[in-house]
Amino acid sequence: MTPPQVLTTVSSFRAALAEAVAAHVRERGAAPAVGLVPTMGALHSGHAALVDAARAASDIVIASIFVNPLQFDDDADYLHYPRTPERDVALLGAHGVDLIFTPDLAQMYPGDSHAPLVRVSAGQLGTRWEGAARPGHFDGVVTVVAKLFNIMSPPAPARLEAWFGAKDAEQVAIITRMTADLNIDVDIRTVPIVRDEHGLALSSRNQRLDETDYSAALAIPAALFALSEDAASERRLGVADQVEELRSAEGVELDYLVVVDPDSLEELQPGDALLDEHGVLRGRALALIAARVGPVRLIDNVILSPGRSQPRE
Ligand code: PAF
Repeated sequence: MTPPQVLTTVSSFRAALAEAVAAHVRERGAAPAVGLVPTMGALHSGHAALVDAARAASDIVIASIFVNPLQFDDDADYLHYPRTPERDVALLGAHGVDLIFTPDLAQMYPGDSHAPLVRVSAGQLGTRWEGAARPGHFDGVVTVVAKLFNIMSPPAPARLEAWFGAKDAEQVAIITRMTADLNIDVDIRTVPIVRDEHGLALSSRNQRLDETDYSAALAIPAALFALSEDAASERRLGVADQVEELRSAEGVELDYLVVVDPDSLEELQPGDALLDEHGVLRGRALALIAARVGPVRLIDNVILSPGRSQPRE
């Protein structure tokens, strides 16, 4: 496998991508599909799954590694965020990435790195659920992602697809809406949540759970799967029952468990288009959960569809 090219400046990245697109057109006589995996580094098997999906669907795979200060709640978190650039480049190369963009702060935010004057706002979408728990986080995410799309979009005739993990369901909904509202020409693709054999969604934070925490954390997927079964069986969604169960579960501090419209992220109410007056789901919805277990805050979600249960692994 050819090692990936690592580019640190906007101009060198654009030139390398233009050359890769031109070479593809010359050799294959067809427009390439370019798959982008944006990351903040400290890569793990979840990122590898994203790259593998992009590799399988694209002719040219590109990735970015940039720890974005705008999306951190506080400076200490940003400063202590793990940075493992050599390992990250090796992982991306081993999974077949062609070009890696690793800008520094001055490349990404040429004005003032911590307070760029012009930013993108996630609007009301950025204030719900995780947005309420982390004010400003999604504004920081959409600002950097819009910039990455601008910098990393290939020249015509190539087309861009960007890959994100379904575990960050709110992030995906907000980025999808941002691309529509700002007319950014990119298809957003998601890779399903990867779960362990007991159903817990994989996350680097799981390493900080001891045995007791881990057992307690299993209440999170259990609640989501119970809702998925309610939806699949077309019976009343037992959200209140699950909330009560989680509130009384030892070792779990529930932040929220809600069923929302997957696009607007608004909580469904009986009598809405998606939820009938008996609380039975009538269309596709998203169950979102966040809870603190031991030393970590875990998030998870499941798509709810009438007549269809979601796979647990
Ligand atoms: O999901 C992430 O790792 C980040 O939010 C992203 C999309 C790379 C933007 O910094």
